[in-house]
Amino acid sequence: MNLESILFTQGFGSRRQCRALIGDARVSVDGTVCTEADTDFAVADGTLRFSVDGVEWPYREHAYLLLNKPAGYECSRDPQHHPSVFSLLPPQFAERGVQCVGRLDQDTTGLLLLSDDGKFVHQFTSPKRKVPKLYVATTRHPLDDAQLAALRDGVLLHGESKPSAALDAQARDTHTLALSVLEGKYHQVKRMIAAAGNRCEALHRERVGGFVLPATLAPGAWQWLDDNELDALRGG
Ligand code: URA
Repeated sequence: MNLESILFTQGFGSRRQCRALIGDARVSVDGTVCTEADTDFAVADGTLRFSVDGVEWPYREHAYLLLNKPAGYECSRDPQHHPSVFSLLPPQFAERGVQCVGRLDQDTTGLLLLSDDGKFVHQFTSPKRKVPKLYVATTRHPLDDAQLAALRDGVLLHGESKPSAALDAQARDTHTLALSVLEGKYHQVKRMIAAAGNRCEALHRERVGGFVLPATLAPGAWQWLDDNELDALRGG
């Protein structure tokens, strides 16, 4: 693939802008400055690394990203009341079409996946492909056995005709609930907790499929997902 196409596919602007970056000697490949936009590089093995203005990036056919979402950010690219989670990411990701894989509320924290691979996004958001998600909620009132049983057996959410049941609901302490759900309806977890007779004061997503948010990833920080992590996501 030629260098212009490499930069273009990785989100570094229009083809014209990518040619200009290269012509201005701002791009290097494997440590060597390249000013010829038509120079070809092998990208198939995914090992190509290039730098733009001294910042190194790997070439990736698709971007699979993990963000430890802080509170106070909206998952929309066109946010209404709070900054977008995209303001926490390098701009080339939005440019290359990366989108959130499902949404978290602005005040929900934790594991947020993003990708520009439409199949992957569909796989994790389609209601048919049920992927378990583990949330940890802080509740206003003490948890009791009746609430936990109601969450496991199914609670009727306002405006729904069928009850929603948690895969599992466990109290970690008096006011901390670990709730595992398959679906991703609007405000699902908060509504389930309310329907069980309590109230959600804070919500954090800890796990999707078999993948747990790494403790080393600080709130607001992002990382690429590697093949092992993608496999863990698909496992339950
Ligand atoms: N359920 C909610 O209520 N909010 C979220 O952000 C995610 C799941």
